[in-house]
This record gives sequence, structure tokens and C-alpha cells, in this order.
Amino acid sequence: MKGVILAGGLGSRLRPLTLVTNKHLLPVYDRPMIYYPMQTLLNAGINEILLVTGGEHAGDFLKLLGNGKALGLKDLHYTYQEGEGGIADALKLAEDFVDGGKVVVVLGDNIIEKNIKRAVADFFTQPTGGKIMLKDVPDPHRFGVARMDGDRVVEILEKPKDPPTNHAVIGIYMYDNDVFDICRTLKPSGRGELEITDVNNAYIERGDLTADSLDGWWTDAGTFESLYRAAKLVAEGGANHVGTEHMTRERVAPH
Ligand code: G1P
Repeated sequence: MKGVILAGGLGSRLRPLTLVTNKHLLPVYDRPMIYYPMQTLLNAGINEILLVTGGEHAGDFLKLLGNGKALGLKDLHYTYQEGEGGIADALKLAEDFVDGGKVVVVLGDNIIEKNIKRAVADFFTQPTGGKIMLKDVPDPHRFGVARMDGDRVVEILEKPKDPPTNHAVIGIYMYDNDVFDICRTLKPSGRGELEITDVNNAYIERGDLTADSLDGWWTDAGTFESLYRAAKLVAEGGANHVGTEHMTRERVAPH
């Protein structure tokens, strides 16, 4: 399976930090934010990755990541999202790279403590459809939130004022190749973006979306509060600190 990391956007919630570089290159404790989603994919056995970036500082990724070999990747591909069309708009750019297969999509500012190995292995054997991952949070109104009927996810609400549950939909998504057809049917939301939540709801309507719950902590890092929290969680993470399996400081030599 191939992996896609979405690392575009203007990072406007993190200005002035993002006036000089891309949000996903800002430090989270001892390494750039982008290393964590890469580690998430590598730990799940995915080493062919497409990085979708955008904005004025896209060139900075090349300086840091090069061809990805130093990070343990087989192949690192890059593409560029024009404008601010949203997550599902960025995903459209991955169609040729994914080349008819399944894909694991990770948002570039999502950091997890443990790994998604089991979920990816389960999705590998899932004949069709998609899989999302849920995590209980104290502030679900900041995220996509799952509405449940027993164990079944029946709808996802994007940043609801009055969340029906505290099950946040984290920024790690697994899809079959139909995702690209679904993306073509989407209409921009109120914030003018093609929403990943609409993609997931389309799979729910087909009766073809599974959901797993994530072990260990999860955080985004796109606001000052969450960036600070991410750094603290990583720093206090001890032996489970993500980024140690492949990307030791020795392996990620500066170039
Ligand atoms: C996005 C998604 C949201 C998801 C979140 C995870 O939100 O739209 O459904 O829960 O990522 O980080 P955004 O980062 O665009 O606010």
C-alpha cells in the first residue's frame, strides 16, 4: 500500500511562525513536525510516500527531506497543491501516484504515540471501502466527530457546535481507489473547502466505512495550544517517543 501525507495550507493559525516556513516544518520537540506522520507510515510498513504540499515555502521540504532515503523511505514523491482547496482537494493530486491501489492518508500535523500497524493490516484484507480511526477527546468540537448507533458510525459531523459523542475522527484515513471518484463528486463546504468528512460520509452511505479506535495519545499541532501540547507529549513520551524506530538522529544526518 502507498502513503500520502498532506502538508499544504498556509498555516494561518500559526502566524507569524508560518511567515518564514511551512507549518509542517516547525519543530515539535526535537524534530520537524513532518517527521512524525512519516514515522507513522514507516512504522506501518509503508515506505512509498507522496508528500502534497503548497504555499510559499514548499521548497523547504526538499532541503530537509531530499529523496527520503536518509529517513528509510524507498521512494519519496512530491506534488504541489495550488490555493486552499481543502484536504480532499489535496488528495485528488495523489490519483496517479496511487495507481489503482489502496492508500493510507495522514495529515501532516497529526502525531500519534503508538502505531497503526494493526489497523493497516486489517484494512489490507478489507475488500473495499474505507477505514477511519477514532479517539476520545475532551474537545470534540474542534474535529470531525462520529455519531454512533451502538458500535456503528452512522455519520461524521465536521466541527459540530454540539458534538453527539466525544469520538474525534483523527487525521489518518484508509481508502480504496474509489476515493478519487468520490473526491470528484464533492462540493465546497461553508469554509470553501472540499472536506475529508464528506468523503467519509460518502463511504458511510455506501455502507463501506469501518472504524477502529486508536491506542495511545493523539494530537494535532496546527494551533499554538496544540503545537505546545504536541511538543510536551513527545518530550514526555519516553521510550515510546515516536521517531526513534527509523529516524534516529544518526540516520537523519543533516545534508
Ligand atoms: C481536519 C478534518 C477533521 C479532523 C482533523 C484531524 O480538520 O477536517 O475532520 O478531525 O483534521 O486533525 P482541520 O485540520 O482542517 O481543522
